Amino acid sequence: MFFERPDSGELCILVHLEFYQSDESGDPREFEELAISAGACPLDLITGSPHQINPRSFVGSGKLEEIHQAVQLHQAELVLFNHSLSPSQERNLEKALGCRVLDRTGLILDIFAQRARSYEGKLQVELAQLQHTRTRLVRGWTHLDRQKGGIGLRGVGETQLEIDQRLIGERIKSINKSLDKVKRQRDQGRKARKRAEVPTVSLVGYTNAGKTSLFNHLTNENIYAADQLFATLDSTLRKIQLPDMGTAILADTVGFIRDLPHQLVDAFRATLEETIEASLLLHVVDCHSEQRFILQDEVDRVLQEIGASEIPTLLVYNKADLLGQELPGIERDDQGKPWRVWVSALNGEGVENLLQAISELLGEDFIEPELHLPQQNGRLRAKLYHQGAVKNESLDEQGQMCLSLRLPKQDFERLLKEEGLDAKSCVR
Ligand code: GTP
Repeated sequence: MFFERPDSGELCILVHLEFYQSDESGDPREFEELAISAGACPLDLITGSPHQINPRSFVGSGKLEEIHQAVQLHQAELVLFNHSLSPSQERNLEKALGCRVLDRTGLILDIFAQRARSYEGKLQVELAQLQHTRTRLVRGWTHLDRQKGGIGLRGVGETQLEIDQRLIGERIKSINKSLDKVKRQRDQGRKARKRAEVPTVSLVGYTNAGKTSLFNHLTNENIYAADQLFATLDSTLRKIQLPDMGTAILADTVGFIRDLPHQLVDAFRATLEETIEASLLLHVVDCHSEQRFILQDEVDRVLQEIGASEIPTLLVYNKADLLGQELPGIERDDQGKPWRVWVSALNGEGVENLLQAISELLGEDFIEPELHLPQQNGRLRAKLYHQGAVKNESLDEQGQMCLSLRLPKQDFERLLKEEGLDAKSCVR
């Protein structure tokens, strides 16, 4: 039989098992996409539903033989498991199959390592990789010791192991220190934004929903977008202009994924933190995906977990161009508030509706008072101008400043309080 050899990409065999009476039900298609995202070229998918895990080699001897045959047939260089493997299982499998073996965590880490762009993202990935390696290193050396045994070898092994562990430990410490610093700087940036009262809108959603494409479309920035999962690793911030609202900050965040290994959840807390502090979330969904409802629920669950479920959210059904039908306008809830819009980040369809809906949701708390101020209140006038809240200014019949304003209600109340003024006396 003749198999076409691809030009590039590591040739790999995928293994996806559904264990009897297990809640774990990964999706083999998503797994395949993950493998492609990592730059691998899947040639075969081995499935099965075994009753239990073999502690030594994860799969039983029959399945192992089946994988081995596939490896030989396709001359594969790598076998990817859609499961967590212990370091010793990984090693035993490598020995039996005669090629590299990687588990799901290793695969996702590899993707993250390839995609990390910012300093912080790179640090976070390195940290997760080191933590992953550290456990493998310990057991790896144990395994070698046991295998080689013998006088003299064990001592050397232990010394080398100690050195490796110490080096990794030091690097982890230094990365944690750098991450702390980056985090402090980011907090300061966030505070400055808060002071300037610029609302932040965060794009969230399952990986590959089209967040980065939408971000690019809205900000006209050509940030790396590819048909690869996890194209975004760090939250990326840009200003956007909204109708009747002025400036807002748009944040792109890393995509959510089911069964994200817990080391990675830790590693990406920074982007999630950005999400928690947003004024509005745009939950981007690939409306063309058959799994859209499941993925949507999964994102909602994670948002709840990180304490972001109270933040006002607008559903953005993206990739509407693939449906080939006329798009509905802004869809509203019982109170007339926008809850869903349909867009295409590819051709820009529906984006005007999206901007309009964002403005409406952000502008909910806005008020438009007419303020009459004696001339000595110049400081308040300056603050209002600084905030961009003044729409118009004139002098009233008593020679007082008359300012037509538009600003969030709580900002207005705070500014009056700061100047010791009572709304009753100066607002008409
Ligand atoms: P992660 O960074 O992995 O979380 O992905 P993401 O949600 O940022 O998705 P991204 O913008 O990278 O888009 C994923 C793929 O979908 C790319 O191939 C895009 O070209 C494609 N895509 C995005 N928006 C649309 C759209 O409106 N229509 C169509 N047809 N394709 C789209």
